[in-house]
Amino acid sequence: MSATYPQSIDSEHEEQVLSLWNSGELVGLPTETVYGLSADAQNDLAVAKIYSVKSRPQFNPLIIHVASIDVAKKYARWNAHAETLARKFWPGPLTIVLPTEEPTALSTLALAGGNTVALRAPAHPIAHQLLKKFGRGIAAPSANKSGRVSPTTAEHVREEFGDTLYVVDGGACDVGIESTVIDATYEKGIVILRSGIITRAMLEKIVPVIDAVETTIKSPGMLLNHYAPSIPVRLDAKTVEAGEALLAFGANLPAGTYPVLNLSSAADLTEAAANLFAYLRRLDTPSHRGIAVMPIPNEGVGEAINDRLCRAANQVTTVG
Ligand code: TXA
Ligand code: MG
Repeated sequence: MSATYPQSIDSEHEEQVLSLWNSGELVGLPTETVYGLSADAQNDLAVAKIYSVKSRPQFNPLIIHVASIDVAKKYARWNAHAETLARKFWPGPLTIVLPTEEPTALSTLALAGGNTVALRAPAHPIAHQLLKKFGRGIAAPSANKSGRVSPTTAEHVREEFGDTLYVVDGGACDVGIESTVIDATYEKGIVILRSGIITRAMLEKIVPVIDAVETTIKSPGMLLNHYAPSIPVRLDAKTVEAGEALLAFGANLPAGTYPVLNLSSAADLTEAAANLFAYLRRLDTPSHRGIAVMPIPNEGVGEAINDRLCRAANQVTTVG
């Protein structure tokens, strides 16, 4: 990578980043593509903060950043395509989607409730230094508010999020566009999900590249990894019907006796986001006839929660 980057940060700053990650806080992280808004990928609440701060109206799954192939293998069911690609392009701007290793230590929110994981080992020397010291995966979408351009300098990130976010200054990103994302879950070949500096031609030299239509996943909904419970989901529930379990929000629960998990009894939307996928999964058992979901305010990260709940309830058929 570019020799113009600062090649490392001193131990004092390194400690600061590690302690922020370890305590579930966010850090503006330089990578060779764009700056990331980063958090511990194993901490649901930390990941929920990413969505809150970004004002993302949807929970798209996040890229999990790792220091090495060895760490990636802890999170994914590795395969031959992944091995070939990672050996050639890691560390670097290639993100590889693979089946998640189950049970996973990763935040279900970072995976948006799905059963695949997107992994990338950044080449930026400071990102690599910090990831190596941290040891675990770091979730990091581009450090911009939803709908705005991705930041390529520390200054951009500060402009976007203000002084409350700790930003590591790693200089100007030399790639400047987000990583190439490929799906490596098929034996036949890989599917390009997002183009980037690592081009189709470069990929084709070492692995077969197939079109999405050649695969069994044809719906964009599945590409986006939607979690659909196997029992009916009823939204805006003010009562709980016989046999239903309740996914609650806030302190004022409907009368009666029923199985219940509360997304946030304090009505905190960030806490609710952190619990959403894990609780949906726990309530999704054949012993319940359905899941009744209390109304969630459609503001801030509540918009993303409602987007996912609508999909879970099958009330959205297209991907927004
Ligand atoms: O260069 C980059 O990739 C930057 C830096 C910070 O690493 N990150 C980035 O993240 O662009 P984000 O969240 O803005 O984009 C992640 C992309 C999205 O298009 C998302 O849908 C896709 O990766 N993605 C993540 N997990 C996925 C999965 N399990 N299956 C399919 N696509 C996935
Ligand atoms: Mg982005």
